[in-house]
Amino acid sequence: MKVTDAEIVISAVKPEQYPNAERFPEFALAGRSNVGKSSFINKMIHRKNLARTSSKPGKTQTLNFYLLNESVYFVDVPGYGYAKVSKKEREAWGKMIEKYLTTREPLRAVILLIDLRHPPSNDDVIMYDFLKHYEIPTIVIATKADKIPKGKWEKHAKVIRQDLQLDPNDQLILFSSETGKGKVEAWSALNKFM
Ligand code: GTP
Ligand code: MG
Repeated sequence: MKVTDAEIVISAVKPEQYPNAERFPEFALAGRSNVGKSSFINKMIHRKNLARTSSKPGKTQTLNFYLLNESVYFVDVPGYGYAKVSKKEREAWGKMIEKYLTTREPLRAVILLIDLRHPPSNDDVIMYDFLKHYEIPTIVIATKADKIPKGKWEKHAKVIRQDLQLDPNDQLILFSSETGKGKVEAWSALNKFM
């Protein structure tokens, strides 16, 4: 999809605020804090900073609904695994995400982002298992590929596949928000769900 128009529609904290007038196909971004979810959105829609990014983890705090070409939603989701939040905040986060992921009817697939440089964290494994348990279609994006040499990509990708016990039907796409690597593959993976 060539995105010619993108706008933030709402930053939601509860279901009553989710856009419900139309039922456009929707894709949610999941992954640990700082993995590159907001950067992924910006790269996919070639906008520099529509989705706010930060080198400081915990930037995205609400469910941010981005409408693309008046026909598709990307939902930027707060990252998990950010140490500087209280137990109470973490629980509130968990409830909000769980409710959204398990009840959101227009949700077509979750884009799960994992840092290609490191083995998946416990939270990454838990998130993937959760998505599998609820039979939510998942596309795994390995981010920050530009930060490791090309010759090591496959070795790192293999660790992700193994540690997640990735379903052979689920795609793993190597991606870089710096270089644009993987953008075409990511769009074609999404297109299958539209
Ligand atoms: P939260 O909103 O805190 O959950 O983080 P996020 O997952 O949205 O991460 P964000 O997109 O804000 O990126 C975090 C940092 O990583 C920023 O400094 C980005 O510039 C950087 N970053 C993201 N993707 C890439 C990438 O592909 N390559 C490189 N080199 N840096 C990246
Ligand atoms: Mg973010």
